[in-house]
Amino acid sequence: MKTETSKDILLYKRLFVYIKPYLGLISFSLLLALLVSAADGTLAWMVKPIMDDIFVNKNAELLRLIPLGLLLLYLVKGVSRFGQSYLMRSVGQRVIMQLRNKLYEHIQLMSLSFFHRTPSAVLMSRITNDVTKLARISSQVIADFFRQIFTVIVLLGVVFYREWRLALIYCLVLPVVIWPIKAIGKRLRKVSRRDQEKLAELNIILQESFTGTKIVKAFGMEDYESQRFNHENQKLYKIKMKGVAADELLSPLMEFLGAIGLAVVIWYGGMQVIRDNTTTGTFFSFIAAVAMLYAPIRKLSKMHNVFQDSMAATERVFDILDTPLEITDKESAIELPPFNQHIEFKGVYFSYNGHDSVLKDINLTIKKGQLVALVGLSGAGKSTLADMIPRFYDVTAGALLIDGYDVRDVKLKSLRSQIGMVTQETILFNDTVTNNIAYGGLDASPAEIIQAAKSAYAHDFIIEMPQGYDTVIGERGVKISGGQRKRITIARAILKDPGILILDEATSELDSESEKLVQQALEKLMHGRTTLVIAHRLSTIMHADLIVAIDNGRIAQQGTHRELMKMGGVYRRLYDLQFRKQE
Ligand SMILES: Nc1ncnc2c1ncn2[C@@H]1O[C@H](COP(=O)(O)OP(=O)(O)O)[C@@H](O)[C@H]1O
Ligand SMILES: [Mg+2]
Repeated sequence: MKTETSKDILLYKRLFVYIKPYLGLISFSLLLALLVSAADGTLAWMVKPIMDDIFVNKNAELLRLIPLGLLLLYLVKGVSRFGQSYLMRSVGQRVIMQLRNKLYEHIQLMSLSFFHRTPSAVLMSRITNDVTKLARISSQVIADFFRQIFTVIVLLGVVFYREWRLALIYCLVLPVVIWPIKAIGKRLRKVSRRDQEKLAELNIILQESFTGTKIVKAFGMEDYESQRFNHENQKLYKIKMKGVAADELLSPLMEFLGAIGLAVVIWYGGMQVIRDNTTTGTFFSFIAAVAMLYAPIRKLSKMHNVFQDSMAATERVFDILDTPLEITDKESAIELPPFNQHIEFKGVYFSYNGHDSVLKDINLTIKKGQLVALVGLSGAGKSTLADMIPRFYDVTAGALLIDGYDVRDVKLKSLRSQIGMVTQETILFNDTVTNNIAYGGLDASPAEIIQAAKSAYAHDFIIEMPQGYDTVIGERGVKISGGQRKRITIARAILKDPGILILDEATSELDSESEKLVQQALEKLMHGRTTLVIAHRLSTIMHADLIVAIDNGRIAQQGTHRELMKMGGVYRRLYDLQFRKQE
C-alpha cells in the first residue's frame, strides 16, 4: 500500500514535467472551473427564494427577476464549461504529442538487441494506446477533478449554510461511500495492467500471422491461427469482464449508499418543516444541493478508476523511457576521422545472451582498400562478426579498432556514416524511388540520385515505371522484382559513398539472371572501397585479397584462395561443399 503510494508520487512528479509548460493555461482553466462550480452553487442556493418568496409568499417582482437570472447563470456556466474543457483537452493532446515523439525518439535509439527482445507490436501499443491513456490524466482527470471538487465544496457550502445539523448527518454517510470506491479502483488498476499485457499478446499474434500470410496459407494453418487467436481473445474477454464488473458496480453501489443518506435527511428534515423549525424553501434548497452533489461525487469516483488505469499506462510508458540505451555515444566520444588505415579485431568475443559466445577470440585486420571475404557454414557467426563494425552490438571482450580508435570511443554517427551495408533482406520504404535512394542522404541533388541509380544499373527500369523517379515503391507501392529492389538498395549505398562497405550475402535469394546485374552493380559499388563481403559466390571469393574461414565462431583459417586450398582443412571442405559446383 505504502510503496504503491510512493510510486504514484514519483510518477506524478515525472508527469508534472510534461504538464509544467502549460501551467498558465491550466490555471486559467481552473478559474473557469471555479465559475462553473459557483454557478451550480448559486442554483442550489436560489431554490430557497424561489420556494419561499415566489411560491409561498407570491412575490411578483421576483417572479420577473429570477427566470432572467437563471438564464444568465446558465449562460455563464455553459461558456465557462466549454472554455475549461477545451483548454484542458488541448493540453492533453499536446502532452500526447510530446510524449509520443519522445518515446519514438527513444525507441529509435535503442540497440538492435532491444528490438530482438521486444516484439514490435508491444512497442506500437506503447506509442498508441498507452500514451493516449496517460494523457487522459492531464485532459480528463485534472480538468474534471478540480471542477468536480470545486462543485462539491460549493454545494457543501450551501448545504451547511442552509441546515448545518442536517449537513452533519449527511456527511457521516460520505466516508461510507468513498471506501468501496477506493477498493474497486485498486482492483481496476490490476485488471488494466493484465488487460494491456493480453492486448499486446494479441497484437503479436496478429502481426505474425498477417506478415506471414503466405506461409500460413501454404501450410494450411488458417484454422490453427484462428484457434490461437480465439484462445487469447477469450482470455482477454475474461479479464475485460472483470474490469467491467468492477466498473459498473460502482454507480449503483454509490447510488444506493447515497439513498440511505437522502432517506435519513428527508425523514429528519421533513420533521423539522412539520414542526415549523425551518421553512420549506430552506429544506428544498438543501435537498437540491444534496441531489446536485451526487453527480460530481459519482464523476469523481469514476475518475478515480480512469486515473488508476492511466497510472498503469504511465508506468509502462516510463518503463520504456527508462530502458537505458545500451549502445550510445560516450560523454567523451570524438568524431571518427575519415577511414584511412585499417579495421582491427583484437581478441573479440561476443555473446547475444551473456553466456554462449557466438564469436570467440577473433583477431583480424582489414587494411584500407582490401576486399576481405568471410566464408563459413550457416550459423558460424559471419553476420555477427560483420555487425560488430557499425557497432550494432558491443564486444563482450576484446576490442574493435578503426584506425586505432575503439569504436566505443567515437560518435556513432561519425562511425556509421562511413559504413555502407547491403544485406540479404532488401528494405524499401513506402516512398518514392528518389526518397528510397536518398535515404540517409536527404540533401542529395536529383542529378546525384540519377547518377547513383545509373551506377547501380537501376536507372533503366526506374524510368520505365509509371511516374519514373516519383513512383512510390515499397510494401504498398508498385511491385518490382527482387533484383530490381536490390539494385535500388545498391544505388542507396552508392549515393552514401561510404569508405567501408559490408555486403552480407547480398546476392543470395536472386535468380541467376538478376544476380548477374546485381553483381555488376555491386562491383561498381565496391570499386575503390574497403569491403567485407560475406559471400556464397566463388567468383567474389577468388578476387578477395584475404579469405577468412569462420568455424563455430572462431577464425579457423585466413589467407588467399590459393594458400588456403593448398593448406587443406576447413576452407577446403567448405569449397568442396559450397563452391566447387559453381566452377
Ligand atoms: N539476434 C540474435 N540473438 C541471439 N542469437 C543470435 C542472433 N543472431 C544470430 N544469433 C546466433 O548467433 C550464431 C551466429 O549467427 P550468424 O552470425 O547470423 O551466423 P551466419 O551469418 O554465419 O549464418 C547463430 O547460432 C545464431 O543462432
Ligand atoms: Mg548471416
